[in-house]
Amino acid sequence: MNTSATQNPLNDTDLLDEERKERYGHTPPSAFTDPEKPKEAFRDYDAPARDSVREFYKLNHRYQTLDFVLSKKAEYLPARRRRMGIWEAMEYLNTLVDDSDPDTDLSQIQHLLQTSEAIRADGHPDWFVLAGLVHDLGKILCLWGEPQWAVVGDTFPVGCAYSDKIVYNEYFEANPDNSDAEYQTKTGIYEAECGLDNVHISWGHDEYLYQVVKDYLPESALYMIRYHSCYPIHKEGAYSYLMNAHDKEMFHWVDAFNPYDLYSKSAAPPDVAALRPYYEELIAKYFPAKIDW
Ligand SMILES: [Fe+2]
Ligand SMILES: [Fe+2]
Repeated sequence: MNTSATQNPLNDTDLLDEERKERYGHTPPSAFTDPEKPKEAFRDYDAPARDSVREFYKLNHRYQTLDFVLSKKAEYLPARRRRMGIWEAMEYLNTLVDDSDPDTDLSQIQHLLQTSEAIRADGHPDWFVLAGLVHDLGKILCLWGEPQWAVVGDTFPVGCAYSDKIVYNEYFEANPDNSDAEYQTKTGIYEAECGLDNVHISWGHDEYLYQVVKDYLPESALYMIRYHSCYPIHKEGAYSYLMNAHDKEMFHWVDAFNPYDLYSKSAAPPDVAALRPYYEELIAKYFPAKIDW
């Protein structure tokens, strides 16, 4: 039993990722499998692990109300807590991870580098590589005391009816918004096809990081960052009636990004020190030395 599980607030995020892989099929696209390596299924997680995923979504769906999302936006935005460079933020995020346990999955920094390296290996543009490198940095919210259910997991629009495509959607019954008639029509507080920029999505590391980096990266990278956890939309096709034509076009980038996030974890751990010079240069091309978090 991994004793660090109770101490490390990000520990369960690997579990959430594993659950997603299970939900969307064990088999990664062929580009993500090593032909030299015998095929292995992604880890089948056991009953207690499954329970902790369920428990996670129970809390997430109960507490992610429209009011909660608005209060977190007011609390964190515009970003003003700390000034840090991108690499500094990667190291800061990594302080959460206990590497002493051999069973522990890859650290956060390794996940970021594996994602970006897989994107780079496929010859994508440098801003796509950079999106891979930074996409989870919003998880530093955990370092500022936010509970996991307010940082990670699948995201979804709030202020309108919950899609039955959202994982464990039965847990929305306990959400106060569920008994507010105004919020439970199909489009709720929104206009049809108003565009996702006008829609409040459940609070977490996606929206927070988007707000932190929005002045520095191309729009396609920003879509990847802002919606990478929004599986009900990008995997299930839910909520298309809130999207405008531009969203639908840009979601091709979110789709293109997803396999790198979901499947690059099974590769060998990256050599962080060896890769750092390349990434410092890439970071400097798009970001100032320090930005507001
Ligand atoms: Fe993420
Ligand atoms: Fe990720």
